[in-house]
Amino acid sequence: QKEIQEMTCRPEYHLTPPQNWTNDPNGLIFLDAEYHVFYQHNPFGDKWGHMSWGHAISKDLVTWEHLPVAIPEFDNGDGSTSMIFSGSAVIDSTNTSGFFEDGFTKGMVAIFTVHVDSSGKGMGQYQSIAYSSDKGRTWTHYEENPVLDLGMKDFRDPNVIWNNQRNSWLMTVVKPQEYTAQFYESHDLKKWELLSEFGKQGDTTKIWECPALFEVPVENSKETKWVLLISSGHKTPGFIGMQYFVGDFDGKSFTPQVQNDVFQLDAGKDFYAAIPFNNLPTHHQKPVILGWTTNWAYANDTPNKGFRGGFSFPRELSLYNENGTYRLMNSPIVSKDIQTVELSKKNPEADFENPVFHIRLGQIEGSFELKLEQSESEFTLISVSNGVLTFDRTQSGKVDFNSSFASKDQMEIGNFESLDLYMDQSVIELFANDGKKVMTQQVFPTQKPLKAILQFP
Ligand code: FRU
Repeated sequence: QKEIQEMTCRPEYHLTPPQNWTNDPNGLIFLDAEYHVFYQHNPFGDKWGHMSWGHAISKDLVTWEHLPVAIPEFDNGDGSTSMIFSGSAVIDSTNTSGFFEDGFTKGMVAIFTVHVDSSGKGMGQYQSIAYSSDKGRTWTHYEENPVLDLGMKDFRDPNVIWNNQRNSWLMTVVKPQEYTAQFYESHDLKKWELLSEFGKQGDTTKIWECPALFEVPVENSKETKWVLLISSGHKTPGFIGMQYFVGDFDGKSFTPQVQNDVFQLDAGKDFYAAIPFNNLPTHHQKPVILGWTTNWAYANDTPNKGFRGGFSFPRELSLYNENGTYRLMNSPIVSKDIQTVELSKKNPEADFENPVFHIRLGQIEGSFELKLEQSESEFTLISVSNGVLTFDRTQSGKVDFNSSFASKDQMEIGNFESLDLYMDQSVIELFANDGKKVMTQQVFPTQKPLKAILQFP
């Protein structure tokens, strides 16, 4: 029994590293029929360390193929190492950087933070670049790195896009301890000039990490707005999640709409460091993001075997207008092979051989509970009452690997319209009211089988 479970802690339909540790997704990009996910990876162990860029590709965002480590950490020759922290990738189709041969349209450039610890001559974080002419398989570091260095200890996570309004590259990068994002401009990806700053707003209780600024369409209109994602803050003290700002970007500076409270991208504990894919083909009408599905509070301790950490389903983002305020909604990109079951008052139960399924609940009047039950003493309880969804994982299996894991988490959903619940072994993603409210939570069941029961207390 134990053996079985330790193997099955690995999600089947979500991207996880072939072995060892992962945290943030990096350099999400599409090129030539391949979606690339690079990711923060420790090639030598299943806890954080030796940060390098791992690499996986997909033809459909649903199944993934693993490739060798793309950009490893390197030795500085003075006792210290340069770790490759989070960042992004672009396609330099007109060779603005001069790294590629004339006329080559498929050059990939990665822009990332180099983190140097204190064991050598220098320490700090700065932005460097590397380039690849073979679709991200092999990389060459730019000889004159770094390309952006403020001499700071914390300065990281560059996210670069093409800025149509100024025909130049735009980098969003954060000063984590100052709760500030900065916007820089470049014409060649090598020289960067400050355009403007945005910060000290929203949630400033936690450091700001992994920013991304991009354009998002508004549902049922021709309008678009700009969204700034920031990984930071969480309504539960001690945990981190993601917040976002919606606003306008004139090519130089970001002006947010009035947001009277903190806008959380995902109300769960297990969604962080999400950024969008660059260079998506035009049939994608919405940006697609991918997040890391755990929490720094216990990420190093989760009871996985042989690997640790993984990613959410890719999610399409759009905005909806709620009485003049724009908010994000999420729609997951999911394999058609996942079994879907509709539960209702008339059909309140389903049995599963494997904890991998999609449950859909339509409109239900009044309060209800959805119990995912391995046994009488092991279950996850999702209840909806008075416009609040509560996710109780205190009895969901292994919970004592870290004292902060067992919890009951809440999300305000207002009028209940629908719920889509995807369970894939240890990851549960909830999309309420067609993705207007989202919650991602890990659970670590120790037993099969599993029964889902809809109850009306
Ligand atoms: C976010 C983060 C980033 C950093 C990376 C290091 O989870 O702390 O800010 O670049 O992880 O692995």
